[in-house]
Amino acid sequence: MDYQAVLDYIREAVEPKFGKGKVADYIPALAGVDARKFGMAVHTVDGKSYKTGDADEPFSIQSISKLFVLQLVMSHFGDMVWTRVGKEPSGDRFNSMIKLEMEHGVPRNPFINPGALATLDLLMSLKGDTKARIRNYLSFLAMNDTVDADMVVANSELEHASLNRAMAHLMRGYGNVHMDVEELLATYCYQCAMAMSCADLALAGLPLAAGGYSPVHETSVISKSQAKRINAVMLTCGMYDSVGSFAYRVGLPAKSGVGGGILAVVPGKMSVCVWAPELDAFGNSYVGTAALEMFTSLTHTSIF
Ligand code: DON
Repeated sequence: MDYQAVLDYIREAVEPKFGKGKVADYIPALAGVDARKFGMAVHTVDGKSYKTGDADEPFSIQSISKLFVLQLVMSHFGDMVWTRVGKEPSGDRFNSMIKLEMEHGVPRNPFINPGALATLDLLMSLKGDTKARIRNYLSFLAMNDTVDADMVVANSELEHASLNRAMAHLMRGYGNVHMDVEELLATYCYQCAMAMSCADLALAGLPLAAGGYSPVHETSVISKSQAKRINAVMLTCGMYDSVGSFAYRVGLPAKSGVGGGILAVVPGKMSVCVWAPELDAFGNSYVGTAALEMFTSLTHTSIF
């Protein structure tokens, strides 16, 4: 399969799809991103890489960070994380609180905002600098020392974090958040503001395609069983309340972010990252989803 030709074809084929979504503006610093950007990168488990368009340009990874914080938490705490969050799709928006009170402060899964806050709260219970731990992990996985948070984005989100703040307080009231809420929010906004390119993220996601093993580092970063479980939670919860139609159209475990990135995993074969900032009504990249749909159709890489 000529993956380079497929990526170049997709870059042209998505052209008519621009202008139909909307760049995230509820975090003011994201509103100014160029809506016409498009990048896509693939890393295969046997060491090949391909990219097209703006694949080397860093963008705000936002909720894609939740995938890596979950990995850190699972490697330190194992299955204990599932006492703090569930592993069921929520069927609601990523920033919805509607079920959180009814379910006594235990979020449905680690990828919706309250779930990511509870997961991060657990990581922050470890000694040491949590922000540095997250940055170092991402920079290690992407083999890129320049990976860092964009503090303009982090501060902009922190100033507009009323919903996330409300969720964190609700969970603290139910005993499912233990850290100081402001410190938790600042760390959460920091993880979401990490800036990485499609090429960085595809490399960082490669262990999920290789049973937890990183072929480029020649070491396992998570166990085989953890990779299997994280892929399962991505498949069922990674695209929020459009996870069903994403599985129907694309057929891969994936995690999106409101920066317009989507990181998808083809188990046993490769990781794929796409970036296109315009979002659909569910907060997932509109053009990015279309690009991944073309990718799995052309390369027969859907898991179904
Ligand atoms: O907390 C927020 O709302 C953002 N920092 C992240 C949300 C997000 O990326 C949802 N993704 N599609």
